[in-house]
Amino acid sequence: MPLNIRTYHDLTEPDRSGLAEQIGAQRRRVAERLAVVARVVAVMSGKGGVGKSFVTAQLARALARMGRAAGVLDADLNGPTAPRLLRLPVASCTLHDGVVEPAVSPEGVRCFSMGLLLEDGRPLAFRGPAAESFVWRGALEATALRELLADVAWGPLDVLLVDLPPGMQRLAELAELLPAPPAVLTVTIPTPESRDAVRRAMHAARAGGSELVGILENMVGGEFVGSAGEELATEFGIPLLARLRFHPSVHEWDGLAHRVVGSA
Ligand SMILES: Nc1ncnc2c1ncn2[C@@H]1O[C@H](COP(=O)(O)OP(=O)(O)O)[C@@H](O)[C@H]1O
Ligand SMILES: [Mg+2]
Repeated sequence: MPLNIRTYHDLTEPDRSGLAEQIGAQRRRVAERLAVVARVVAVMSGKGGVGKSFVTAQLARALARMGRAAGVLDADLNGPTAPRLLRLPVASCTLHDGVVEPAVSPEGVRCFSMGLLLEDGRPLAFRGPAAESFVWRGALEATALRELLADVAWGPLDVLLVDLPPGMQRLAELAELLPAPPAVLTVTIPTPESRDAVRRAMHAARAGGSELVGILENMVGGEFVGSAGEELATEFGIPLLARLRFHPSVHEWDGLAHRVVGSA
């Protein structure tokens, strides 16, 4: 049974009075929920398909193996992938008294994703007017993120990794919601094209007040040729945390997890 995320409906009701008040209350709840989360790290890229979600999930699993309390918020509301990557069945999170309890992976990673609520492949139900659907979609997604951060009871976490969708909008929304802009871990593939797209995203993240904690170069050693990871690390004066080949070993993920924790 899918959970009912209230605000989708609230926003599309003709009478939206009380919305500002509701948003204020949600912000306070977000701050309370995250008061027990030591660190929020957004996983970003300027490009889709470079492995953000893959890296987020494997890094979270490695952190859990290290004994850290790790969570994953899948902020890709329309293309959620975290449940599959963390081996979580649909509907494995629970709702009671308006509080969402995250699902827990076999390694102990706590996760919330729209993919835990919706049947496979079914998009979020947007109920705004069809002609304005583009505008509504953006507004409703920002609302959904605020709602999720207010309602998901992560409990004490050492790290909450936020798997961002492509584009910079969600990071800006997140920065606005949190008490402070999140730290950012950047993923690129080796190519110059990726470097250029990712560079723009890094500038935007830094301009938004986020600390850039490091770069991960992914999909190294195959058909993607270049040294985007090293170049961006030098340019921004931040560590190149890993160069990951296809199908990295458990050992490589563990090494990465240590370096990420060490970068705190
Ligand atoms: N290092 C890797 N080794 C093997 N498969 C990978 C690796 N990185 C990413 N993938 C795969 O590539 C695809 C795209 O990765 P994904 O994490 O979904 O990208 P993004 O979240 O950046 O859009 C997925 O099928 C993912 O499992
Ligand atoms: Mg993704």
